[in-house]
Amino acid sequence: MSNPSNGQIANVLNETRLFPPSETFAKQAVIGSLRSYEELYKESIEDIEGFWAKQAREHLHWFEPFHTTLEWKNPLAKWFIGGKTNVSYNCLDAHVLAGNGDRIAFHWEGEPGDRRTITYAEMLNDVCRFANALKQLGIEKGDRVSIYMPMVPELAVAMLACARIGAIHSVIFGGFSAEAISDRNNDAQAKLLITADGGWRRGKALSLKDTADEALAKSPTVEKCIVLKRIDNAPNMTPGRDVWWHDLVANASEDCPATSMDSEDSLFILYTSGSTGKPKGIRHTTAGYNLYAKRTFEWVFDHREGDVFWCTADCGWITGHSYIVYGPMSAGATQVMYEGAPNWPQEDRFWEIIERYRVTILYTAPTAIRTFIKWGDHHVDKHDLSSLRLLGSVGEGINPEAWMWYYEKIGGGRCPIVDTWWQTETGGIMMSPLPGAIACKPGSCTRPLPGIVPRVLGHSLADVEANHGGMLCIEKPWPGMLRGIWGDDERYQQQYWSLVPGMYLTGDNARRDDDGYYWIMGRIDDVINVSGHRLSTIEVESALVSHPAVAEAAAVGRPDDIKGQAITVFVTLKNHEPTDAMREMLKKHVRKEIGALAVPDDVRFTSSLPKTRSGKIMRRLLRDIAAGKEGTGDTSTLEDYTVLVRLRNDDES
Ligand code: WT7
Repeated sequence: MSNPSNGQIANVLNETRLFPPSETFAKQAVIGSLRSYEELYKESIEDIEGFWAKQAREHLHWFEPFHTTLEWKNPLAKWFIGGKTNVSYNCLDAHVLAGNGDRIAFHWEGEPGDRRTITYAEMLNDVCRFANALKQLGIEKGDRVSIYMPMVPELAVAMLACARIGAIHSVIFGGFSAEAISDRNNDAQAKLLITADGGWRRGKALSLKDTADEALAKSPTVEKCIVLKRIDNAPNMTPGRDVWWHDLVANASEDCPATSMDSEDSLFILYTSGSTGKPKGIRHTTAGYNLYAKRTFEWVFDHREGDVFWCTADCGWITGHSYIVYGPMSAGATQVMYEGAPNWPQEDRFWEIIERYRVTILYTAPTAIRTFIKWGDHHVDKHDLSSLRLLGSVGEGINPEAWMWYYEKIGGGRCPIVDTWWQTETGGIMMSPLPGAIACKPGSCTRPLPGIVPRVLGHSLADVEANHGGMLCIEKPWPGMLRGIWGDDERYQQQYWSLVPGMYLTGDNARRDDDGYYWIMGRIDDVINVSGHRLSTIEVESALVSHPAVAEAAAVGRPDDIKGQAITVFVTLKNHEPTDAMREMLKKHVRKEIGALAVPDDVRFTSSLPKTRSGKIMRRLLRDIAAGKEGTGDTSTLEDYTVLVRLRNDDES
């Protein structure tokens, strides 16, 4: 191992397995060879504007064409200036007018087992009626609308109806607290809240409306509240403020032409947590976002007619915005949408759903994959997953061990895995294998998509050498990029554009290997510094997860007088006893996998790891616990921090 002295991060994860696409897969793929990818990439970066202009003309419907492709006054970007379009038109009308109205948009499944099949024509009809209902309530172009709903088709209808009339939606994940909702309502000055009486989660009916009511008491700008009936629990309805969804649409006309929107009109705000704790409203606009979501969906998921795509994310996250609603629907995809938990009524619910709808592409998160591993293979073995042809992963790094399980157990060794790296801010996938063209390496998001120019910089802001970690930046603007933080231009400039002049700072560390593949090494502040060696948490974690007894692991640094930082790891075991012998065995295992430097100083067993609502491990909290800032008592006993964490961090996303 090297000893970098210039602020670079040591690379200790040595993953050399290579998985090229099969000939059968490559032959039918949208982009079917490394050469086609490299040609497309070269073309895209030699003339970024020309490339995206052509994409925009060919892949979006325009009411009026744009006259200027890009105006880039760092950090303010405008794409496709002068153009007029509408995102809901591109997602709905375009398909119906092309004669594909009968195509299934969603196979929806509620947690209790209720099912609905919705075509594109039906979706258009529902969206038009609901859009008219919004207008009836006085919602106009530019107004902000908060949406707090379970994963039901009406959530997509609400988003698309806002897009249709130019209202700016702010979707708030259905698991958030009243405090989180009112913060977001107030920051965006929302005029309307769309919610439901409740939703189903692990067999329980959750009363969303009660939480919404609590939030509305502290949301002075919100005038009206639309309530969808989902669980029928007779919620409290405040006269003059609250209206039932079904009453509103009962007499609404289905005639609602899509409003002509300027390319740079805001489409939505999506709040994401920042380092300071105050959530940031990430602002995305119309044409650039729409184009980027659509094309990245088609490239990365190799989408074609007949596919059944299932993204298991919630629409409350960017993944649901870009790869359930806007990307797939612009592409006319047929999808599965599921309301509930993966272990209801049994731990095989996902596999049962895949078998039932003959899902061909599955897009899920590493945290889910590690949970499935823990639950055991027998749940998977009960089902026929032979319809799958492609798998995807998103949200955090996928440990090579989890990658291999996903590849072999779920994909039957025949499906490429697209490990997609991106952010709420980027609007769409930035780096990922194109599955017919780029060979996968477990744990690497491989190479940049067309038009994306990543750079890995050291503290001196110079590019670091291959195989050393540094700050991941993006050099050129791209159509899907955020256009700002709602109401906080200064923070936008500060957070993303000041440390490295002229480049977008992602906040992640990464390294590029000798083949030009990128490896995300976690957030910049997730680095552990042991005796002057900077280690990335994912590498220590992956070493632990590669031990057969380990289900999940989180590594953090804690202050140490001698070494600067010592390594504390929190480990969840698969049906093994948390003994001292196990502790020693794991230390030995890390020594063998990485080296003496990375051997954890403390191994703490826990039945579950604290996670954010979107499933990312909350290392910040674990750092406090490791540093003894939390009165957690005896460190050597089995501990469960989950409850503590949930209580303390209600508003973390
Ligand atoms: C952060 C963005 C992307 C949509 C969901 C999360 C981490 C995301 C990967 C990946 C390693 C990943 C990064 C990134 N991340 N995907 N494939 N490999 N890390 O969106 O909540 O805005 O989080 O998630 O740290 O910066 P988000």
